[in-house]
Formats: sequence, C-alpha cells, structure tokens
Amino acid sequence: MKRTHYATQIGTSQVGQEVVLNGWVNTRRDHGGLIFIDLRDRSGIIQAVCSPEVDRDAFAVAEQIRPEHVAAIRGTVQKRPKDTENPNLKTGLVEISVSALLVFNKAKTPPFYIENNLDVDENLRLKYRYLDLRRPEMMDNLMLRHRIVKTIRDFLDARGFIEVETPILTSSTPEGARDYLVPSRVHPGRFYGLPQSPQIFKQMLMVAGLDKYFQIARCFRDEDLRADRQPEFTQLDMEMSFIDEEDIFTLVEEMMVLLFAATGREIKTPFPRIRYDEAMAKYGSDAPDLRFGLEIVDLTAILHNSQFKVFSQAVQNGGVVRAINARGCASWTRREIDEMGKLAVDSGAKGMAWIVCTENELKSPITKFLTQVEIDGIMQALDAKPGDLLLFGADSTAVVNRVMGFLRLELARRLGLADPQELNFTWVYDFPLLEYDDEEQRYVAVHHMFTAPRPEDIELLESEPLKVKARAYDLVLNGTEIGGGSIRIHRRDLQEMMFEQVGMSMDEAAEKFGYMLEAFEYGTPPHGGIAFGIDRLLMIMAGRQSIRDVIAFPKTQSAACPLTGAPSQVSSQQLRELSLKIKEK
Ligand code: AMO
Ligand code: AMP
Repeated sequence: MKRTHYATQIGTSQVGQEVVLNGWVNTRRDHGGLIFIDLRDRSGIIQAVCSPEVDRDAFAVAEQIRPEHVAAIRGTVQKRPKDTENPNLKTGLVEISVSALLVFNKAKTPPFYIENNLDVDENLRLKYRYLDLRRPEMMDNLMLRHRIVKTIRDFLDARGFIEVETPILTSSTPEGARDYLVPSRVHPGRFYGLPQSPQIFKQMLMVAGLDKYFQIARCFRDEDLRADRQPEFTQLDMEMSFIDEEDIFTLVEEMMVLLFAATGREIKTPFPRIRYDEAMAKYGSDAPDLRFGLEIVDLTAILHNSQFKVFSQAVQNGGVVRAINARGCASWTRREIDEMGKLAVDSGAKGMAWIVCTENELKSPITKFLTQVEIDGIMQALDAKPGDLLLFGADSTAVVNRVMGFLRLELARRLGLADPQELNFTWVYDFPLLEYDDEEQRYVAVHHMFTAPRPEDIELLESEPLKVKARAYDLVLNGTEIGGGSIRIHRRDLQEMMFEQVGMSMDEAAEKFGYMLEAFEYGTPPHGGIAFGIDRLLMIMAGRQSIRDVIAFPKTQSAACPLTGAPSQVSSQQLRELSLKIKEK
C-alpha cells in the first residue's frame, strides 16, 4: 500500500490505472450501497468510492472509517458518472474505485473542522496547530513560503550572493526593540542577547571581503505584538560592498518581479519613490498605502491667525493644522462622524473638528469661529464640493501626522477604497538620520545607528542633527513596510560621532561596539544592504491579514505558544545552575 501518486496528480489521463494513495479521511458519506471517502493529502483532495461489489473487505473497513483516520487506498481511476463532477475540486472529474482500504491509524474527533475559512478562536488553532495546518489553505501557505524562499535563494545565488549563518547566541544587536536574553551558565550573571537582526555580523562579513552576503535569518525582538509583528520573525537579510542605493533598488526590483511571477502575478518596475517628508505630510505615515488618494492637506498658513483658538494655538505652539476631504461623506450621520472623532482621540488627538458641505450650507461646530476668507481658503485648499465631509486635526506635527494618517486609513477602510488585488510598491527615501525621543530625552537613530548620513549633511551632524538626512530607504507594499535598509557608515570617526549623537559615552561605545570600531580600522569597504520581513511579504502574497497565518508555529499576542506551553517554568535546579533567583510576586 505504498503511495503511487499525490491526490492532485490524478486526473483524466490516469483513467483505467491502478493507483495507491496515502492520506487522511476528509469526509465519509454513506449512500447505503456505496460509501464515498474524500481522501486528503498535502496536495489536495480526491474522491474514492467503496462498493461491496468491487471489494467486500474494503467496504467493511469503509463502514467503520471516520474523519481524520489515516488510510491507504488502492483502486482504479475512473471518470465520474455524468453530472456528478465536482468543479470545486482539482480532481473533480475523476474518482477512485476502491479495491483495498487500509487504516494506518485512527483519530479522535478534532476540536474544529479541518476546512478553509474556519471561524474559531485562534488560540484553539494554535494549540492544535498540527490540525490547523492540515487545512488546505494553511498547507498552501507553507508551500508558498517554501517556494518563495527557494526562489530567493536561487535568484541570489545566480547573482553571486553567498549565504552565511550568523550566531543566535550573541551580544545584543540593537534595532530599537527590547532584547531577548539568555543567561549563561558558564559565566554567572552574564547573558547572551538574541539578535534583533544580523546587522553587525553582516557588516563584519563585508570587512572580511565576502562582497555579497545574504541570509534567511531569524530575528528576535521583544516588542508589543500586532498582526504584522512577531517576537521571532524571519528576514531576508542582504549586504553588498562597493555599491550605492541605485544598485540595491535595481536588484530588489528584479527580485520582486521574480517572486511575484512565482505566484502568477505581474508587477511593474521601476517602483515609484517618495521622500519621507512628503509621505509624512501627505499621508501621515512613512509607510503610506498609495492604492488610494485621500491626501492630507496642510492649512497652517490659512489658519494660523484664526479666532478659533484650537487652530491658532496649535500653530503658536509650533504645530500645524491639517485636514482630509472625505469625498461624498456629507451624508454621514452625526453618530458616524462622532465615531471618527472618537477614533481620532483614541489615536492621540484632543478632538476632531469637521465641516459637512451640503448644497446650500456648511454644517459644522467650528465655522462660526472662522472668517469667510478662512472658510474660502479651506474650501479651495481641499477642493471641497457639496457632498464632501472635511476632517481637521490641529496639534504638534507628530500628533497630527499620526491622527490624520490613521483617519485616512480608517476612511479608506470604511469606503472600501483599497483594491485588495492591487500590488502597490513604493520606495520611501530621504529619511532623517535622527529623531528626538522625548521619553529618553536624547536623539535616537530613525533606522539604526550604523546608517550613513548623506555626505553633504555630515557637517550638520553636531550643529543641527535633526536636519541630517540618512542614506536609508524602505520598501512599502500596500501600506506595509516589507523591507528597510541603508548605506552604512564605514569609517571609525564617523561611527564614533554617531554613537555620541545618540547619547553614548565613549566608554559605553567601546564596551558595546569596540570590536566594530576596531574592525573599521582594518580596511572596511563602503557597503550597504537591506532586509525584508519575509513573513510580511508572504502575508500579502497569500492575501492574509496576519503574519501568523504564514508562520508554521507562531506565538500569540502575548508572545506565548499554546502548543508547547512556552514560555514555561524551569526547575530550581536549572535556576541554581544559572545563578538566577526568581523574585516572589
Ligand atoms: P528593520 O528593523 O527595518 O531593519 O527590519 C527589516 C524588516 O523586517 C520586518 N520586521 C518584522 N517582521 C515581523 N515581526 C517583527 N517584529 C518585525 N520587525 C521588523 C519588517 C522590516 O521592514 N538590520 C536592518 C536592515 C538593514 O539595515 O539592512 C533591519 O533589521 O518588514
Ligand atoms: P471645542 O471648542 O473644544 O468644543 O472644540 C470645537 C471642535 O473642535 C470640536 O469638534 C472638537 O472636536 C474640535 N477640536 C478640539 N481640539 C481639536 C484639535 N486639536 N484638532 C482638531 N479639532 C479639534
């Protein structure tokens, strides 16, 4: 009873052949004299029919067989009788007339149906992930993942890239998240940090002269989890020497064309590019979804002197007034508008002023505070017409960007503006090198601290650090940042200056990154690279809402694994060996 075919390898060209299939019983239907078994393997499903007239023993086994039993079927492929074809199955034109049926193993009734479009608690799916993965759509996701990673490896190999593995037990590589730490038994009180990315190692490989590196690399970041964030995730990590931004853009675009072709989709290159400042001002985000317009419009110049204090005071405090024209939304009820206002407040706004434009009048809580000149200015800037709804944000630039960016996405969602079939790629570039972190009261790197400033901006690094632009770039697909990278600093003095700018003392820099600074003195080529979130890319390719659906064994929102119970308690013996003590709560 050894397999001769996978289910979906069988079609009308096998009619008359004897075949053996191995798999799981998807369904069993008893039609009195005949029993139909849908047998599932990783390729899909095929129907088998058991008749006592063909084989009495097989029929007897079929009478007892249940869903998820593991079975082998031997039989002859035959065309299905007319009008019993199933267009929903790849194998729907044929069936197998069973001559032998063997049950390898029985199965308990599963806690949920093994079928697509399942609507059950995700924790239950994760607890029984081995059953969840039997569902064809999940199996397809794993196969897609394999296909894409293989295509990446083949493409990069052909382009002269060498895949190198870098350590998991290492000292912390900072990317802006919290580290996962592993206590050392041999060095009591010391810890390994799990890499947030292979960033420093790939730069060391450039110093070593590898020239073109890549890795399908696991990364670990202890941060707040979301649908597109996991504590451990996979990057396609790349680095090259003697290149510039254009080399990276071209290579990546060629690779994306190939990857999407592997899923039967055609994409156009070159990808459009947008400056960071423009993305933030027009879309309120450094990862703008450009499948739709809904641009944010700046009204600061029109409203800075307004009698309406909410606006003028925001500007006096150094902030801005911006608005979005929600076209055709004048018919929204007061309740719908208030709902948007509440969402604005939840995302950090102090309020959300609005104007409803009807044929005869403007309805709004704020027009009574505005002059006719201001109103005309607003209407013109937003190209407002009867039928439109205008939404306003006034605050610091950062808050207004966040709030208006959020409202823009929410409007698009409610209005169904984003075409789920579209693939909209954009390069975002000209990021600032540094930003000020109010909480930490210091500058932090926008990308990471190994990113090179634009050469013409280096002289501003000490005097006006916020004006310095970075040689950094992100690739955004449908509003998701799927990749990011930069040209790196490759000189010790500049790297030291950068450490200093982010508030690191020379002692601290020497202790944490001394080896890197030293390496830079032994002949470091100019270099740069990029890393892609493979899970995010696959999520979009598979049309999924969460990266958990393209990861075999993901963690929950609280970074736990319902299948294995990780993270778990350890014995006091283990703690003693690690010189650790757990503080009682
Ligand atoms: P960055 O931090 O931008 O860059 O990460 C690169 C890409 O990884 C994905 N990503 C994640 N995916 C899932 N879960 C997460 N928690 C998560 N965090 C990031 C994103 C992101 O674009 N060393 C640099 C790259 C470089 O400079 O070459 C780096 O790690 O898609
Ligand atoms: P108030 O005078 O506080 O009642 O506000 C009048 C209108 O302005 C209300 O619709 C508020 O939601 C709105 N509003 C208040 N603060 C802001 C703000 N920072 N940005 C935009 N609109 C605001």
